[in-house]
Amino acid sequence: MARRTKIYEGTAKILYEGPEPGTIVQHFKDDTTAFNAEKKAVIEGKGVLNNRLSEFFMTGMTQVGIPNHFIKRLNMREQLIREVEIIPIEVVVRNWSAGSFAKRFKREEGERLPRSIVEYYYKSDELGDPLITEEHITAFGWAHPHDIDEILALALRINDFLTGLCLGIGLRLVDVQLEFGRLWENEQMRIVLADEISPDNCRLWDLETNEPMDKDRFRKDLGRVEEAYQEVARRLGILPESGPS
Ligand code: TMP
Repeated sequence: MARRTKIYEGTAKILYEGPEPGTIVQHFKDDTTAFNAEKKAVIEGKGVLNNRLSEFFMTGMTQVGIPNHFIKRLNMREQLIREVEIIPIEVVVRNWSAGSFAKRFKREEGERLPRSIVEYYYKSDELGDPLITEEHITAFGWAHPHDIDEILALALRINDFLTGLCLGIGLRLVDVQLEFGRLWENEQMRIVLADEISPDNCRLWDLETNEPMDKDRFRKDLGRVEEAYQEVARRLGILPESGPS
């Protein structure tokens, strides 16, 4: 195969130039980090699972009219996506208290929130992704007020969609982190969901036991990380071709 042009490499993913203009190949790695890369590991087979899981979630969203960057899966670790201009904000939707929220407000993990709460964080490794408000977003020109309205509405729809899907397989969607991008088509701009949806960027707890089935198993050294990702894929009826038996 001809050498491809690498556009970006992060911890968990590599982006390559796609076969046609406006497309990108998103490659999922097994590497993982936590706490701003203080903690590192390789989770065998994670990339293969996240490629399938993200395909599953994005395809489902396309079917219900939630715009996203996914085009098609190419192979075990790669998918073709649309090139978008990433908005430098991490949007977190929380349904139950956990993680940094539980810490900030001194709440127990697993408390039901009065309603879904949407938070924004500025994507900056250097600053450690600080919590921000709409004021910061508009003042620094990261997005226009009408973009923020669109992002908020999409984030809540995505949260509803994923919550329902997870309930159907005995999982609670505790929270989820989303990224959005601007997609340009004939001078028209649309905001679409980008990045990935996988146990790397959401919290999924077993409905009966409250066992985390996501990256918190790695963050908190709970063990059986691969098994948790596999279990989510198994419950959804998807496992990679060569995947674990
Ligand atoms: P938090 O409770 O640590 O702020 O995390 C909120 C959600 O965002 C949780 O589902 C994990 C996810 N997340 C990421 O996807 N990337 C990150 O860098 C962090 C810190 C959290």
